[in-house]
Amino acid sequence: MDNAGKKSLFITLEGGEGSGKSTLIKRLVARLTALGNTVVTTREPGGTSGAEEIRNLLVKGSAERWDVTSEICLFYAAREDHLYRLIRPALEDGKIVICDRFFDSTRAYQGQLGIRESNIIKALEENIVGPTMPDITLILDIDVETGLTRANSRNNIDGDDKEGRFEAKKIEFHQKLRDAYLEIARNEPERCKVIDATKTPDEIEEIAMDLIAQKFSISLKEA
Ligand code: TMP
Repeated sequence: MDNAGKKSLFITLEGGEGSGKSTLIKRLVARLTALGNTVVTTREPGGTSGAEEIRNLLVKGSAERWDVTSEICLFYAAREDHLYRLIRPALEDGKIVICDRFFDSTRAYQGQLGIRESNIIKALEENIVGPTMPDITLILDIDVETGLTRANSRNNIDGDDKEGRFEAKKIEFHQKLRDAYLEIARNEPERCKVIDATKTPDEIEEIAMDLIAQKFSISLKEA
């Protein structure tokens, strides 16, 4: 989205399991709000009541619950509702939208699995995301073992209703996932910025704010 003369910004956060997206989002909201912006935080899959219902189908249950094509369609059904009801209206209202995961997650999680999947994803991206591309995507990069240890300790707290379907996939899946994110960043260096997620939360916050300010100094100052 072109931000010249506008205050709206679409920021997405991406990364493997346990990469620290939630912590960074809370900190970014505090910083950007203090600068006078109206910030909306949301997540995928989810963000609207319909998309949250679809989320339950996707993140709970056994790792093999869905075949990958069904999974892609469900993620995109949720994404369409989210874009239509929440993301686009908020951006049109001049707000900053921070979304915990967006279409890069589908590319990285489902797209790594085959050519057919990649083609379906590309067509859905063009038709559903269309021009509503993130202005900046922060990719939190962490080694697979550390990330999964963090994510599993979080899920153990959740009890029987836990959202561990993707974390339960094999370690090779998570390694490919990390590689897929790094490849996305290499292919779109203007939009995608990789942050070393093993740094401290304070350091990560500063790096992220610098990246946002460098790219959108006018929007942030004029807000
Ligand atoms: P979360 O744990 O970050 O809330 O995300 C839920 C899970 O859904 C996470 O394991 C990543 C996965 N996911 C995909 O596989 N494809 C997608 O398009 C999205 C948005 C999430």
